[in-house]
Amino acid sequence: MKTHSNSTRKAVIIGASSGIGAALAVELSKAGYILGLTARRLQIMQNEVQPRLVSPSHIAFMDVTDIHTSVDTLRKVIHQMGGVDLIVLNAGVSGSSVGMEREATEELIRINVLGFAGMLHEAYRIFQKQGYGHIVGISSIASLLPHPNGSAYNASKAFVSNYMDSMRLRVKRRGEKIAVTDVLPGYVLTPMTEENKRMFWVAGADKAARQIAHDIIKKKPVSYVSRRWRLVAWLLSLMPRGILNRLL
Ligand SMILES: NC(=O)c1ccc[n+]([C@@H]2O[C@H](COP(=O)([O-])OP(=O)(O)OC[C@H]3O[C@@H](n4cnc5c(N)ncnc54)[C@H](OP(=O)(O)O)[C@@H]3O)[C@@H](O)[C@H]2O)c1
Repeated sequence: MKTHSNSTRKAVIIGASSGIGAALAVELSKAGYILGLTARRLQIMQNEVQPRLVSPSHIAFMDVTDIHTSVDTLRKVIHQMGGVDLIVLNAGVSGSSVGMEREATEELIRINVLGFAGMLHEAYRIFQKQGYGHIVGISSIASLLPHPNGSAYNASKAFVSNYMDSMRLRVKRRGEKIAVTDVLPGYVLTPMTEENKRMFWVAGADKAARQIAHDIIKKKPVSYVSRRWRLVAWLLSLMPRGILNRLL
């Protein structure tokens, strides 16, 4: 698969101001990537993320709920970087505070579903045009499960994983040189989860980012973070829905 030479690999991370996105920026920077980082909190990227990077980086404000502006921003950042090999779709919000409130649910869908799909389409268009590339979507183990309190979040991540699987099938069938990696983290300690007292097998953001960077560089189709969640995913795939629902 054609890419730029190792020293000039270029990646954009959408949702790079904290947690997994920020830690992944550090890992990809160590691996030599020139980075484009986007999120709403521009100052945090400038003051807390950029100082941790050892390679050149460009930052830009982006709110993925405004797709048209976000697409323009993505194109501008890529232009500043002089190209792109990898686009990581990481921006997301959790469902813990959403419950069944309609407005909060709609906001979650605007970010995790519509924002994700809008940026996925643009990433695909860019890579189709240049003839190669790598799209990474940050989904969740939650994509495999229903949840009485997190229905919108879990459903949004099921959308992400199913869409990534479909995208992988599409590029394969069309013979396009575009890699597609679906990342399914279990619990990772980040600002999103710091209030969650019911987590287990919790990975630190730095450890999670190291594993994700490793799987990105290997161009794995699916990445479980940490690794033990692969077994959980396999067991869930075997379990009849009736039994699963009784266990939850
Ligand atoms: N932590 C976990 O246990 C866990 C597990 C599975 C999956 N995940 C997924 O991992 C991803 C990162 O989450 P995290 O845990 O690292 O949480 P986080 O620290 O809250 O990071 C979320 C990132 O998404 C960005 N974002 C949110 N809304 C955005 C918007 N409208 N436009 C652009 N960027 C936006 C945030 O930036 P701004 O707020 O600055 O815009 C931030 O950079 C999410 O997709 C999450 O669902 C997390």
